[in-house]
Amino acid sequence: MQRSTYLKALEIHEWQQQNAATSTAISTNSSTLDWESLRQTVSQCTACDLHKTRTQTVFGVGNPQADLMIIGEAPGFYEDQQGEPFVGRAGQLLTAMLKSIGLSREQVYIANILKCRPPNNRDPAPEEVNCCTPFLQQQIALLNPKLILAVGRIAAHYLLQKKTSLESLRNKIYAYGEMQTPLIITYHPAYLLRNPRDKKKAFLDLQLTFRTLYKAT
Ligand code: URA
Repeated sequence: MQRSTYLKALEIHEWQQQNAATSTAISTNSSTLDWESLRQTVSQCTACDLHKTRTQTVFGVGNPQADLMIIGEAPGFYEDQQGEPFVGRAGQLLTAMLKSIGLSREQVYIANILKCRPPNNRDPAPEEVNCCTPFLQQQIALLNPKLILAVGRIAAHYLLQKKTSLESLRNKIYAYGEMQTPLIITYHPAYLLRNPRDKKKAFLDLQLTFRTLYKAT
């Protein structure tokens, strides 16, 4: 199927082409790595100052053949302790959100923009994002997911390179990167813990995710 026909079949009504690498030239030689070599490279990374304060790197978790890739922002306290993304309270909510559309954590792949925890869970700094971008880009390339679900403002702004409100970005299907991978934006589970009224909208985003994933296959 031609890309345009595929996008039409998915009712993708809005999209923008993103450059595969938005980072400045950070050399990691990661472009040809397999999963294990990439994991090793990440675990030894000292490209930014976050390596000085991390307990360990948080690479990503899930099925390396997953249809759905979830992208969050950065590890928090529990993720830094356990070496796995989304394992704290927000992670438990994410797991429940996935369950609401019949998916388990093991079926999807979960990663963050940053592989190291920013101190006090502050927002990622541009320099840190630049350093980590080649790793996430390589994860996306290795996985080649059928759909990316970005959770939260930081991941949404990063992937879309567009800094408008999350509310204005959700409920649409974008196409990301060279592969024009369908991309959906929803609220971060940590935000939903603080603003449970928006859980309903997040559920609609998840239903859109499910329909988009499985309608065209
Ligand atoms: N928030 C994120 O964005 N990622 C995590 O792994 C945990 C909390």
